[in-house]
Amino acid sequence: MARSALITGITGQDGAYLAEFLIKKGYTVHGIKRRSSLLNTDRIDHLYQDPHVEKRNLILHYGDLSDSMNVTRIIQESQPDEIYNLGAMSHVKVSFDIPEYTANTDGIGTLRILEAVRLLGMISKTRIYQASTSELYGLVQEIPQTEKTSFYPRSPYAVAKLYSYWITVNYREAYGLHASNGILFNHESPIRGETFVSRKITRALARIALGMQDILYMGNLSSRRDWGHAKDYIKAMYLILQQDKPDDYVIATGISTEVREFIRNAFAFIGVDIAFFGENLEETGVMKAVDENLFCEKVGEAHLSDIKNRMKNNPVFVKVDPVYFRPTEVDFLLGDSSKARKILGWSPEYDLDGLIADMVTSDMILMKKEHYIKEGGYKTLNYFE
Ligand code: NAP
Ligand code: GDD
Repeated sequence: MARSALITGITGQDGAYLAEFLIKKGYTVHGIKRRSSLLNTDRIDHLYQDPHVEKRNLILHYGDLSDSMNVTRIIQESQPDEIYNLGAMSHVKVSFDIPEYTANTDGIGTLRILEAVRLLGMISKTRIYQASTSELYGLVQEIPQTEKTSFYPRSPYAVAKLYSYWITVNYREAYGLHASNGILFNHESPIRGETFVSRKITRALARIALGMQDILYMGNLSSRRDWGHAKDYIKAMYLILQQDKPDDYVIATGISTEVREFIRNAFAFIGVDIAFFGENLEETGVMKAVDENLFCEKVGEAHLSDIKNRMKNNPVFVKVDPVYFRPTEVDFLLGDSSKARKILGWSPEYDLDGLIADMVTSDMILMKKEHYIKEGGYKTLNYFE
């Protein structure tokens, strides 16, 4: 019989990639989606199947991690072999604005799932993956961070995730549940939420190159992250649940990069050389030179004269706005995923340049479509030849 999985957070970045991955492996995938006033299934619409299809491999249930009865009913009805608990209020900065909601969803939400599996008598049937995070390391106690490094969370989000981490370990030890934590470092993709730093940069880059935006306002340019591609990271989630023994694993690339450097590399991909000047709130990012051939290849010849004029007259395109600062920051993350590489046989296919290329290429296409609509069609630019 086909295996079945339940994914909370299926409408999010990781949920969408994981659902596609599991369906390709022959799974029947159940997903929890929240009711919202606008459609929120963009990322999984390509996987949608008509409800009248006899054997559907993607079934969506309305639900919310803050609702115990709903979570329990969905687990009972879907009888999953595997649960991937990816649902969360996942934005660190926003968690300072809605700390109680974040604790309820990202902390107690996990307990609701574990307890439902226990009370429904599904301990020997259902394996559970908990989406833990490198944010747990916060004010890092060791470099690089491994499964043994002490945690020091620095946001309501990370504190809620700390509860989830330990309650997962506790249910494993107390009741023998096959429950595991993936301690995943930052992972991004073309379908990353637009307010996370990587996507904010690649989206703004495309808009600036097309003349649709002047300035990219940023927060802390000096923080460093270990960035990977979500497509690689969802494979690790799957591998963790295929092990005979439940356990906890760090998933990371092992390379840490400054936000400033991410911006520089992203602009280099379209042939724009940039530099940063000044300090703290006065720091600016400035366009210095353009590789015309590369710019024409990646952006289009039609925009070359505009960017050259921009560079001559107004080369500043990055400014710092303290509104994006966090009350307590996580300055530096660097993961050591040796255990996952050895036991799971996992390793990432994408490096940072590959990730940036994927994201910038995708945002360039999206923003060209927006630009095209704004400009009133094919009159001036032949984007879709
Ligand atoms: P994401 O794109 O923000 O997706 C979060 C998902 O959770 C969305 O489907 C969202 O639904 C859903 N959700 C939010 N609140 C919910 C609630 N109360 N009840 C049910 N579902 C809810 O996040 P992601 O990047 O895919 O990350 C997936 C998981 O991994 C999260 O738990 C995140 O904290 C964790 N994580 C992420 C990273 C990373 O770098 N991406 C690293 C480590 C850990 P809507 O679409 O309706 O908003
Ligand atoms: N979002 C954002 N916007 N971040 C900025 C900005 C900005 O304008 N400017 C600088 N940053 C800095 C943040 O202060 C942080 O140090 C870094 O860029 C990364 O921010 P995010 O992309 O928002 O991610 P995050 O590291 O806080 O959290 C993400 O990764 C965690 C894993 O470490 C989220 O996906 C979490 O859910 C995940 O657990």
